[in-house]
Amino acid sequence: MKKITLIFIISMLITSCNQELKNVSEVTGLVTEKAMVVSARVEASKIGTEILKKGGNAFDAMMATELALAVSYPVAGNIGGGGFMVYRKNDGEIGALDYREKAPLAASKDMYLDTEGNIIKGKSTSGATAVGVPGTIAGVFKAQKKFGVLSVQEILAPIIALARKGVVVTKKQEKRILRHKKAFKKVNKDSIIFLKHWKEGDTIKYIALANTLERILKNGRDEFYKGETSKKLAKFIQNNGGIITEEDLGKYEAKWRTPITFTYDNLKITSMSPPSSGGVCLAQIMNGIEPYDLQAYGHNSVKAMQVITEAERRAYADRSYFLGDPDFVSIPKDTLISKSYSKNRMQSFSFDKPTASKDVSHGSVEIVESMETTHYSIVDQYGNAVSVTTTLNGGYGSKLYSSELGFFLNNEMDDFSSKPGEPNMFGLIGAKANEIAPEKRMLSSMTPTIVEKNGKLWMVVGTPGGSTIITSVLQTILNVHEFKMGMQESVNQPRFHHQWLPDMIMIEPNQFNKNVINELRSIGYTIDERNSRIIGKVDAILVLKNGKLEAGADPRGDDTAIGF
Ligand code: DON
Repeated sequence: MKKITLIFIISMLITSCNQELKNVSEVTGLVTEKAMVVSARVEASKIGTEILKKGGNAFDAMMATELALAVSYPVAGNIGGGGFMVYRKNDGEIGALDYREKAPLAASKDMYLDTEGNIIKGKSTSGATAVGVPGTIAGVFKAQKKFGVLSVQEILAPIIALARKGVVVTKKQEKRILRHKKAFKKVNKDSIIFLKHWKEGDTIKYIALANTLERILKNGRDEFYKGETSKKLAKFIQNNGGIITEEDLGKYEAKWRTPITFTYDNLKITSMSPPSSGGVCLAQIMNGIEPYDLQAYGHNSVKAMQVITEAERRAYADRSYFLGDPDFVSIPKDTLISKSYSKNRMQSFSFDKPTASKDVSHGSVEIVESMETTHYSIVDQYGNAVSVTTTLNGGYGSKLYSSELGFFLNNEMDDFSSKPGEPNMFGLIGAKANEIAPEKRMLSSMTPTIVEKNGKLWMVVGTPGGSTIITSVLQTILNVHEFKMGMQESVNQPRFHHQWLPDMIMIEPNQFNKNVINELRSIGYTIDERNSRIIGKVDAILVLKNGKLEAGADPRGDDTAIGF
């Protein structure tokens, strides 16, 4: 090699190394010494952190952050919805809490079908008929009662104060409210506060919600399920054509579950068990890709995207068939998450061409609704970690808002399979395992996850995004583990997604290498790149080698990390 060529190559290498170092240091998220809360709103992260500073632990901060999101992030934060928490205590104990909504007692398998057996458009997604029995208040009280150290009074006081003082509208929120206005008008008989033309910088006061929270503070968890609030809520839902009764609310219980655990290289991953598909699917996908050398293929390279896509395709096909509420259906969980099962499933994969998903016929899916869930991650100063994803399902849920009680109600009933083989609003195809039954929990994709490395807490991670939740969590873990990124850098990366049906790779627009996309197309993959789509809003925390915490707060939203 000529000397001049060699010099050129070396200088290029140095430039690219420098570039790499520069990029890494530029995108570092907030780093704190001991404790951190990362959530969708600065107000919620702040209140969660204040609770920790007062001596509260991650479970106190969970209650605080969840309810502060219900005030400051009404598009997804909620007391009219439900969620899942995965935790890891500082002594290594792990567990999971299921406060998912339930189908009401009067629900039935065909409740969203007309006399000819066709799905009645909108019935499972919009208004009172779409509402599942909410679980959030039961969830936060159950978690805090078992593990928290502060009084509920100490936790709720700042949240009630925030609701009374009001929350400043961000640019993104202004746009979101505007986008949903038509739906608010259609669903609600009377005017609601969100029909006002709120602009960035305005302050919205949530007085009705403050009053509801005050009653909950006074009378405890049962206020929502057996007290004045439950009576008002049941009446409100029925007056709007829904079927939830006081009995439904009275019977609601959050449930402790055994989380899904599995390994990937030297990582131990703990994630949500059914009725969420998150943990099982994540395990299947990671088991499927573990034998391949992703690092050698490169981040978002053709080969890495192929392997991940094919593992995703197979896992989502199983999701559709096997998964549902474990209290109603039996799930071959141990087989599904075993290494040998995924190895077998991947045997039909070759780098030469895609495996086709087309055996099951399916119309094209138009996801028109804005979808919002929210995730927050917490590590406290004692080393406890909490990973929570909570939702109303669609943005502002069913859009039905009780002006008297001050909150939106979910449209989680759409997460059931209304009719076998028909896609729900995430394009997910369901089967018998996820059909509707009274008191059953609808299948979820929420994937609150905690990762240990060599036996120590390493990452707390999760995201909204409906069916794309599982694959966004996957990519966030892989970006750090395989591709050696920092936490914030990993969260910032463009994401892609495959869910078996529709048979296409969805990608965030204008961010993937054009050659990679062209090559994938030439191998036979269909790539769906729509304008302004985002996949996930990941909020995560990484424990660095020196024991400090690095945040990954997703710039796709108003997400913010605070800590000390
Ligand atoms: O439980 C589920 O999987 C869905 N209801 C989550 C909805 C969601 O993430 C919407 N967000 N972007």
